[in-house]
Amino acid sequence: MLESLGRINNPLIRSVATAATVCSVVTLSTAIVIGVTNPKDKSAYQLGVYSSIFGAAAGAILGLVYTSKSSETTSTPDIEVSDSDVWQNWRNFVVVRKVKESEEITSFYLQPEDKGEIPNFQPGQFLTIKLDIPGQNKPVIRTYSLSDYSKTCEYYRLSIKRELAPNGLDVMPGIASNFMHDHINKGAIIPAKPPNGKFVLDVQKSTPAVLISNGVGITPMISMAKASTRLNPQRPIWFLHGARDSDFHAFQDEVMEIAQQNHNLNVHIRYSRPKPEDTGKYHSVGYVDAALIQELNIQEAEYFLCGSSPFIQSITEGLKAAGVPNNKVFFESFGKPMKSESEKSTQTVTQGEEFAEIVFAKSGKTLTWQPSDGTILEFAEANDINPPFSCRVGVCGTCMCKVQEGEVAYQEEPSATTDQGSVLICISQPGSSKLILDI
Ligand SMILES: Cc1cc2nc3c(=O)[nH]c(=O)nc-3n(C[C@H](O)[C@H](O)[C@H](O)COP(=O)(O)OP(=O)(O)OC[C@H]3O[C@@H](n4cnc5c(N)ncnc54)[C@H](O)[C@@H]3O)c2cc1C
Ligand code: FES
Repeated sequence: MLESLGRINNPLIRSVATAATVCSVVTLSTAIVIGVTNPKDKSAYQLGVYSSIFGAAAGAILGLVYTSKSSETTSTPDIEVSDSDVWQNWRNFVVVRKVKESEEITSFYLQPEDKGEIPNFQPGQFLTIKLDIPGQNKPVIRTYSLSDYSKTCEYYRLSIKRELAPNGLDVMPGIASNFMHDHINKGAIIPAKPPNGKFVLDVQKSTPAVLISNGVGITPMISMAKASTRLNPQRPIWFLHGARDSDFHAFQDEVMEIAQQNHNLNVHIRYSRPKPEDTGKYHSVGYVDAALIQELNIQEAEYFLCGSSPFIQSITEGLKAAGVPNNKVFFESFGKPMKSESEKSTQTVTQGEEFAEIVFAKSGKTLTWQPSDGTILEFAEANDINPPFSCRVGVCGTCMCKVQEGEVAYQEEPSATTDQGSVLICISQPGSSKLILDI
């Protein structure tokens, strides 16, 4: 009953409703007590009246207290994450559902094995998972955006695209994504780190937000669209998505459902190669590009982009040319393509021209690095030291390690938060002639 009262948003109505409820309960209870004891005793009637008044007053106060508690969880600027629910390091999750979303994307619903609470997350954040894959000499760690959102977070959903080998390259298809699709089913256990990431939508803002994605880049956008339409329904949101055709278009029904429930969510779907039977499932033909965004004539908006690297590059350039300030454009790429052996040997690193001695303390190796060795992570791997990694672009924090001596030079600004005295080795190279790392 208290739960139903807790769902009433208006403080006054909730207070009156709780007062009436508690008053009725108290009146009924005292009436029964009077009936059973002494119906002719006047003081018993007085007791009944006083109890009802007391009950109503207590109910009104309870209603107000409930209001303040409830509004804390529904309308604070940031989504509340209770510290007590956030775990350290790895926690086991059970796959409770597996759903095919499109030709190449499958969703996995995860709940904690310990059946405890899980913290909610900022829409756009990701989960880092660890997989023991036969044939791999160490656990494979990968990062996946949380692709769903609800006020009461009862599960985490990851939606994973099966990564095939790139056209024309004789290499293994994606290790983790194919393993997830082919071998992870309901009941499987997957260790995961707490939700993380800075590519997030502040749901409390009222500025129009344009969510632009292609392919599997749709995952954080679903969570952003759902969170925003539920927690701040007045905010205008544009949801622009590009897919090849309806077979490759994940979450079509889910997005249309959100749009039907909230008229401030404007959806535009663009197919690059629609099939004749796709009519009615898309709004235009081609690739989602800056010209489309300009056609929509959205004023003073913030832009959130997620998708392939060329897609992000083309849209950010288009927005810049259209005069959109950099601080209004936020993007996340799901990683840079792995380099082939030939690409590795011809690559040049522009910063930190000097030679450096790197001591990998835990591995007991002291090696000389030079610019053509690339990042510290690439250099370590080339020398049979295999530190954990996931994104390789400074986003997920998986490669973070402690520096015991010396400095690193970042090749790009890290997106992941780093602990004091630690660095991300996937996007850095030595910044001093001697570097001692705790690897
Ligand atoms: C913040 C963030 C969020 C993400 N969210 C999602 C998400 O929601 N959904 C999702 O599907 N993905 C997401 N990703 C990407 C995901 O983390 C993985 O990178 C992706 O699943 C590929 O991993 P894999 O192990 O399957 O492929 P990998 O084994 O890492 O291989 C990647 C690609 O490289 C190719 N390859 C292998 N060897 C070579 C070689 N020698 N030369 C050239 N190419 C090679 C493979 O064939 C494959 O196509 C996200 C990434 C980040 C950083
Ligand atoms: S591997 Fe993700 S930050 Fe380095």
